[in-house]
Order: sequence, then C-alpha cells, then structure tokens
Amino acid sequence: MAKLKAIKGHIIYTKVKDSFEIHENSYIVIDDKKIVGIYNELPDIYKDVAIIDYGYNSIIIPSFIDLHIHAPQYLQMGIGLDLELIEWLDQYTFKYEALFSDVNYAKKLYPRFVDALYREGTLRSCIFATIHNESNNVLIDELKKKKLSAYVGKVNMNQNAPDDLLQSTECSIEETKRFIEGSNNTGDSIKPIITPRFAPCCTSELLEELGELSIEKQLPVQTHLSENKKEVEWVKSLFPNNKNYSDVYKRHQLYGNQKTILAHSIYLTNEEVEMASKEKNVYLVHCPSSNSNLSSGIMPVTYYLDKGIKVGLGTDVGAGNKLSMADVITNAIQYSKIRHVYNEEERVLSLPESFFLATKMNGSFFGKVGSFEKDYYFDALIIRDPDPLTSCLSPLERLQRFLYCGSSNSIVERYLEGEII
Ligand code: GUN
Ligand code: FE
Repeated sequence: MAKLKAIKGHIIYTKVKDSFEIHENSYIVIDDKKIVGIYNELPDIYKDVAIIDYGYNSIIIPSFIDLHIHAPQYLQMGIGLDLELIEWLDQYTFKYEALFSDVNYAKKLYPRFVDALYREGTLRSCIFATIHNESNNVLIDELKKKKLSAYVGKVNMNQNAPDDLLQSTECSIEETKRFIEGSNNTGDSIKPIITPRFAPCCTSELLEELGELSIEKQLPVQTHLSENKKEVEWVKSLFPNNKNYSDVYKRHQLYGNQKTILAHSIYLTNEEVEMASKEKNVYLVHCPSSNSNLSSGIMPVTYYLDKGIKVGLGTDVGAGNKLSMADVITNAIQYSKIRHVYNEEERVLSLPESFFLATKMNGSFFGKVGSFEKDYYFDALIIRDPDPLTSCLSPLERLQRFLYCGSSNSIVERYLEGEII
C-alpha cells in the first residue's frame, strides 16, 4: 500500500481527440508511477491510502509535452521575427548558436531555459541542442536536476551554414556517437535522438550515415520538413534525384524506420500526404507561432488528421515566441479558423482536439504518457484560480480560461511519473 496515493479534484483529459473526459470532484489513484483508475467515490480497498485534495477551485490535467523546441534559441526568442526562415537563420540563429562553443555560455543559459520549461508545465520535450557536445551535456545535466524528461539531439550539419557551425561528416558522426554513449548514463528520463538539422544543411553522405546510426542504435529521429516555400525549392535543387522533400529523408532511412518528428510539414504534395498517412512512426509537428512569425504558412492540421496522420504540436522556440504549450494549443485553433475562412471545406480544429494533440498525441512519442487512462504514467499539472469570483465556473470553463488567458502562475503543482517535481 505504501506506494499508493489518491489525488482529488476536478479531473480533465482527452482519451480520444473528439471530446474531454471530465470527472468532477473525483479521485485518481496512483500506484507508484502509474494510474490505477479514476473513481467518484474511493473504493473500500483504497480507504487507507493517503489523499491529496486540491479542492473545488483547481483542475487536474495531463502535463504538457513539446515535440519541437530549440534550447539554444531561448535567448534569441522574439528577435528578427520580421524575417523569413533562411534570412532569419543566416542573420540571427546561426550567430547565436555558435556561442555554444563556449561551455560557460551554456552554463549561464541552459538553466534558464530548463527553468522556463518547468515553469510552463512542459515536463517532457523533444529538444534540438547544438553541434557542441560539451554544452549539450550541460543541457542534459540541467534537465536532470529539474527532473524533466526529454529527448535531446546533438545537431548535425556539414554544409550551408557558417564555418563555425559546420563539422566534417566524419566528425559529425563521431561526435553524435559520443553524445549517444554519454547519454546512456543519464537514466531513463533523458534520451538521445538523431538530429540532422534539415536537408539543406546535410550532404547525402551525412544523412545516410545518420540513417544507419538511427537504425543500428534504434534511436528516434527529429528534423525539419517543408517549412517555407523557398526552402522547398532549395531542397529540390540540392537533391534533384529525389521525388520530393519527404523522399530525401525516406531514401536516407530517416523517415519512419524509427519514431520520426518532422517539424512544420506545411507544403506537402499529395504524394507526401499519402506517404505520411501510411506511417505509424511519423509525427508531423505543427508549430503555429513559429509559422506565423516567419511568414512560413499554416499547416492544414485538420486535413492531415482526417487523413489519419499523426500530428503533434511544438513551440519551435526561438522562432516561436512563447514557451507555453497552452499558447500553442490555442494558436493552433486560431490559425485553423483562419484557414477555414479562406477555404470553408477545411474544418476548424476543436479545443479537445488541440488539447489531445499537446497531451496524448505528443505523449505517445514517449510511451504511455499524456492521458489519465489506466496504466498511463501520472504526469499532471494542478491548475488553480483562487479568485472567489471564479467559483461559478465549471471545470471545463476553468480549463478554457487557463488555456486562453491564464499564465504559468496558475500552475501550482507538477507531477512527473507520480512524483511531485
Ligand atoms: N530549419 C532549419 N533550422 C531551423 C531552425 O532552427 N528553426 C526553424 N524554425 N526552422 C529551421
Ligand atoms: Fe525548429
């Protein structure tokens, strides 16, 4: 019995994308790290377990997961957002990333980044670091200190960037192997992920070796796909023998052999959409804030979902200008409404759908995460609005207020795998 506990309050989550599961004033019973069940009244067998009651003015929701974020861009967030992707990379991003050759800079910046993730209730994430392993290890140490869970990628690039961010193919692969071996000792919570920055920054040779490495080590992959029209044209000219942008990754075994995150995926051809719809391992990750900031475009989220494609959500900080996944959830709905206005046949993304994407869909990248069903890890946020005027709100209205107008100040407790962190 010692590892059992019950948490009481208004419980909200999404089991399927179309609707919320709402249990008012109920108990969620946890055995060590995992959920046993949700009960209106606590069954007799649990009558002796410790109860933590969060009260009528709180809701209990799954904690957030960000499937696409760049840790080194935390300071750069908000800067140069009047530019489009390639100019933004050239004028700002590469310059800021080069600073991580100095581990002391990483020691100053990464604790701030990790604190911000924690504060916003993003307890798991898939992170791009930089090419610099010494600094990458600082990021891992900080994540461990805060007890957050993440996939962290050493970035690979061997062309089309300033010299101080390029490595030879051999060096890039050796350093990636070293990074993977180093992160073997970091326990289950932090794992490595193969991270070619995007096709324009990698030669075919580098992509091929990264594909082989991901298969040999059975590691997932994260990269960017089809974010900006000029980028898509650029990829066509760099890889003229490939059918389309997705095919560049597919031919190099970086598409669906392992779990794969493809950030943005805005301008997919019909063929690419069909290809993604057949893949169980491929997540097309929508980053609405970034896509509007860099005038990239808007992913047709509901079209992809209705095709059966796995769509995840990400901030893409620093092109995204907020770390909050609540903002991403609401932005995704807002931008889908704009698409709908210009094309009525494309339906609007609903609130439970968008919430589902940020929790259960994103969570599935990590395993049984992001829902409150039996045997899921208990990863949760307690959201409280102490203002007595809000006592008339239903649990769902509380959730809506938090997502659209709340702040991290309303997150009063964070649970990862059953433990308060
Ligand atoms: N494509 C290649 N690198 C990047 C990056 O750092 N951010 C975004 N948004 N797109 C990219
Ligand atoms: Fe990105």
